Amino acid sequence: MPKQLLQRKSVDALTAIENSLKQTLTAKDLTLLGIGAVIGAGIFVLTGIAAAKYAGPAITISFVMAGVACALAALCYSELASMMPVSGSAYSYAYATMGELMAWIIGWDLVLEYALASSTVAIGWAGYLTSFMDTLGLHMPRYLTTAYLADPAAGFINLPAVVIVLLLTGLLVIGIRQSAIFNFVMVLIKLSVIVLFIAAGLGHVQTENWADFAPFGFGGILTGAGVIFFAYIGFDAVSTAAQEAVNPQKDVPFGIIASLAVCTLIYILVAGVLTGIISYKELNVAAPIALAVDHIGMSWLSPIIKIGAIAGLTSVMLVLLMGQSRIFFAMASDGLLPPLFADVHPQFRTPHLSTAIVGSAVALLAGFMPIEKLGELVSIGTLFAFVLVCGGVLLLRISHPEMERHFRCPASPYVPVGGILVCLSLMAGLPLDTWLRLFIWLLIGFGIYFGYGIKHSRLRQAG
Ligand code: ALA
Repeated sequence: MPKQLLQRKSVDALTAIENSLKQTLTAKDLTLLGIGAVIGAGIFVLTGIAAAKYAGPAITISFVMAGVACALAALCYSELASMMPVSGSAYSYAYATMGELMAWIIGWDLVLEYALASSTVAIGWAGYLTSFMDTLGLHMPRYLTTAYLADPAAGFINLPAVVIVLLLTGLLVIGIRQSAIFNFVMVLIKLSVIVLFIAAGLGHVQTENWADFAPFGFGGILTGAGVIFFAYIGFDAVSTAAQEAVNPQKDVPFGIIASLAVCTLIYILVAGVLTGIISYKELNVAAPIALAVDHIGMSWLSPIIKIGAIAGLTSVMLVLLMGQSRIFFAMASDGLLPPLFADVHPQFRTPHLSTAIVGSAVALLAGFMPIEKLGELVSIGTLFAFVLVCGGVLLLRISHPEMERHFRCPASPYVPVGGILVCLSLMAGLPLDTWLRLFIWLLIGFGIYFGYGIKHSRLRQAG
């Protein structure tokens, strides 16, 4: 038994898989998928709270720090993706480097990143939509916009959240190409709105707003980095689309690094302008960017910002839902989950059942659970995956030094080791109850693995 837990899938077997998914994504599509997954609730919602409560105007430095942590992980993801262009992302990389049990753990852990983040973002999306409709004079009753468990007195279902998740699920079932085109439109809208905000806000920056630059000291900047880490989550989803890329070995690394670079630049600019046009003390609100444009007398821009946020959050959900269904697809292809998750639609050539099951579960969570506060669980799950991916690069450099790497992580071992240390320190900064929830989640995962996966593992049956 212990031997099987450590049994690794050979890298050759991973790369030699028969690919039934449709391969249409280009380097540009992959970059846009990355930007689609990244820019969302983090910048449109969390930035204000993080600046007001933790970092002050130095939130820009927090963005640089979290960006550096992600860049180290992104370089490692890129190397592994260039070696193993399969849809399981960190799960598949762990299978090849650390064995089946670790792969299962990381696959199960990624549910926190992808599915849980989709639900969280769906609730944020519903909040923005409701507020936008309010400005149009269309008011939805509270029992249709609030989950029962979030407010037993007045709530019943968060209907907008359920509807958007189900619509996006339908789109993902119909086709990866159609989904990429829709993502392109959403990314275009959100980027235009952000550029408009930066351009309109620049002229209103008052440097005295930056005078008290780091009111909470270095500790505050660090905590701020931990909070807005959420804003970067998603660039790794590019690697889950590897099996649907035309030229995955080259284009997936490009997509990961390019999308992260674009988003980091945008975040630093937005944070700088935001804290320059309004005092950080006033930013503890759910829609800080809209508040800032009201503050400088550009109220006409406020509804446009809301449209940008709605588009942004839509693309985040789309790409994260796609990522989750691809990871389950990979896990089921290995026998660790029931085969229906690996079923490919004969016409659409998408993992339709995996997508439908993931979408329904995410819709249920978003519709009925008060999960807004679980953002930290999303972050710890993602950081854990990053640590293992950085470790995977080190292990494969030792076990497979000869293998062709279309992209090599520079300055190894410093970059992977640096990535591990930075991510571990961000994890260490998260509260104890978040660690506890991660632990409980992994215990449930062990139950499923020992109850099902270990018996049905293809690797074991082949062995
Ligand atoms: N990075 C994504 C967002 O900020 C999850 O919404």
